[in-house]
Amino acid sequence: MDMSAVPPILDATLPDKWIDADTAAFQENFERKSFEVSHHLACHPLFQLPQLMDLAERTLKTRPSDLYYDMGDVAPGQKWKDTNRAFSPLKALEQLEDSDAWFIFRSTQRDPAYAELYRHAIAEIKDMVGGDIESKISKEDIIVFVTSPNRVTSYHIDRECNFILQIHGEKDLYVFDREDRQILPEVEIERFWAMDNNAPNYRPELQNRAKSYKLAPGNGVHVPVNCPHWLKNADNISVTLSVNFQFVDSLRADIYRANHYLRKLGMNPNPPGQNAVRDRAKVMALSTVSAARRVARSVLQRGGSFGADREA
Ligand SMILES: [Fe+2]
Repeated sequence: MDMSAVPPILDATLPDKWIDADTAAFQENFERKSFEVSHHLACHPLFQLPQLMDLAERTLKTRPSDLYYDMGDVAPGQKWKDTNRAFSPLKALEQLEDSDAWFIFRSTQRDPAYAELYRHAIAEIKDMVGGDIESKISKEDIIVFVTSPNRVTSYHIDRECNFILQIHGEKDLYVFDREDRQILPEVEIERFWAMDNNAPNYRPELQNRAKSYKLAPGNGVHVPVNCPHWLKNADNISVTLSVNFQFVDSLRADIYRANHYLRKLGMNPNPPGQNAVRDRAKVMALSTVSAARRVARSVLQRGGSFGADREA
């Protein structure tokens, strides 16, 4: 890549430490409950709209699948798959005030201009978590969200734990307890891990159980893995940075996947954590099924035939 086209990386006014949180609250709540943090990134030059427009152009040219966008008057309970994507993203960014649009710049660190920012932000958070966090992380990522005024980000859960840091504009964030089975039933978690990112259903009658945060430039919120959340932008353009970690903890995800298939067979499986022996047996059975599917796929790709089992 032509590095001369890359904008400057750091604003000299930024302090060395970007993100602040109460140490005791951080240690107690990280990856358990949502909590607020503060940060100094609002003045970072790479989050200004002209730089984000350049980033959009570069992303569309080099990594188009890393720029998600949709448009429309979205409700909190709307599924992501039902949103409008038939428009020009660059035009919608130019007219952000009026376009009702939502942009996700995924894996922004893959753009060379943002690589140092990524390293700094990730290193700070790992430092705050402490302990042996490095060995527990399977994937780390920074994402930038750019949103039109009043736009809603619909209710969902994530595979990653997030630090949502507000850069420009204000927005409301509502975070729910992932252990509340009226809010997030086992069957929805199972379906999410097995096959469907849209599985969790928003229940407006339980909205009053959400913890609400008023995001504004300089503050942010930690959202643990699978904590349901949705957001509503205020009457302003919003830019938000999300620093994400995905954990190695695939065992729990595998048990949820196994439970999804057991439930389809008419069983009523126990959630993970109640019986370690059964949990291990489920994961082994799942890996056996997965291995069989992989073998079947490779046989079919080589032109073989499994007769009635072809759907594998
Ligand atoms: Fe999210």
